[in-house]
Amino acid sequence: AQWGDEGKGKVIDAMAGGAHAVIRGTGGSNAGHTIKIGQDQEFKMQLVPSGILHPSVWCFIGNGCVVDPAALLEELARLNGAGIDISKFRLSPLAHLVMPWHMLIDRLADHLGRLEPLGTTGRGIGPCYADKATRRGLRVCDLLADDLGERIARLRTFKAAELDALVPDASVAIPSSAALTQTLRNQGEALRPYVADTDVLAREALARGQHVLLEGAQAAMLDIDFGTYPYVTASSSTAAGCVVGSGLSPRDVSAIIGVAKAYTTRVGAGPFPSEMPPDIADPLRERGREYGTNSKRPRRCGWFDAPQVKYACRVSGITSLVLTKLDILSGLEKLQVVTAYEYDNDGYAEPPARLYGSTKLMPVMVPAPGWTEDITGIREWWQLPESARRYVELLEILVGTRIAAIGTGPHRDDMITRPPLTVPHYPVNGP
Ligand code: GDP
Ligand code: IMO
Ligand code: MG
Repeated sequence: AQWGDEGKGKVIDAMAGGAHAVIRGTGGSNAGHTIKIGQDQEFKMQLVPSGILHPSVWCFIGNGCVVDPAALLEELARLNGAGIDISKFRLSPLAHLVMPWHMLIDRLADHLGRLEPLGTTGRGIGPCYADKATRRGLRVCDLLADDLGERIARLRTFKAAELDALVPDASVAIPSSAALTQTLRNQGEALRPYVADTDVLAREALARGQHVLLEGAQAAMLDIDFGTYPYVTASSSTAAGCVVGSGLSPRDVSAIIGVAKAYTTRVGAGPFPSEMPPDIADPLRERGREYGTNSKRPRRCGWFDAPQVKYACRVSGITSLVLTKLDILSGLEKLQVVTAYEYDNDGYAEPPARLYGSTKLMPVMVPAPGWTEDITGIREWWQLPESARRYVELLEILVGTRIAAIGTGPHRDDMITRPPLTVPHYPVNGP
């Protein structure tokens, strides 16, 4: 519900036990979802859904994702090596493939034709979605097709010329058509056992009355339509995008759970109205370990921005929120919360996305009392210090959406539920 890294992976893992399947429907290895279980086991998911630690749960990469086959195989090998059962993992044949030229264009040309670089993750995500839209993409099903070599030869010539026009001689880094075809064929063979019509499997599960959980990646404010364009990712990362990307229909959705941090972070360039001054942001970044899961880039830190989260709730149709990392705010004497915005002498309770890029958009902040107690691992609402409870209630009132759970630590179980974190289940054809 913010700019990413809110703790979606932890929340999906916590909820997945009750689901038949978890489906990732958007993004690619630009995502990094961290899950902590047991004493000291930490898993960082890029592509594989965060339900994978539950052996009984099917985990699908849906049609809406963009998949770097090498990154996926590496991730599966890592999980397998850590003793995680990956036999229930499946990959949609309709998902698009991130190719070497996508990564090169992303890394070498981020600054071209823009006022400033976006600071992408460099994983080829934007160029891959661009090729999907221009109908020059390769999909997982193409990896297994007889005419793969011919397709690669044509695409390679075309993309090499495009790359060299952007950055002279950059295409020398692309492997030859023959080498690339061989690599992709090998990767296709390695992935073959996992390729399945995940959309059909998901619809069948719903028809049997089973729960299916859709895992979001990125965030509402990184959505290509509703986020802080152009400082966004290349897919629809609101709830609706998850539905399209999983192959389900809007009628299948019975609840939409938004994940928001008790403060705000953002990686990469772009507007961030509630950004803190360095003297507050720097210690918070250290306490909250706010560094990119994959890229290790320091995350920019800001106060909780209620109009922004309210906007995300509207855009995604969020029915309840999980508020994560409340424990990280312990020790701050005074907190601040954005309650509204001013723009050209007008007040906004919920600014339209087009205003987010403007330096004239000024946040209106109110102070809230902090607390000194360490609340790490608290699992009961009443055990929280009173000012922490007041803070959560203030956010809930300002955003206008129920905060159904609160994160008090990185571990799977560090969570307060109010009431229990369950998905209401309705028959396939709606309530
Ligand atoms: P995602 O991309 O939304 O899945 O989030 P990330 O995994 O990139 O970043 C969230 C970070 O916060 C991870 O390191 C989590 O382990 C951690 N985390 C999640 N929830 C909590 C919480 O309630 N408290 C604390 N201290 N850490 C949390
Ligand atoms: P999760 O799922 C935070 C940001 C990048 C950059 C912009 C565009 O872990 O929350 P891209 O590589 O997607 O073209 O980069 O989007 N970004 C994320 N920031 N969390 C993510 O994923 C992100 N995925 C992309 O930093 O500003
Ligand atoms: Mg992340």
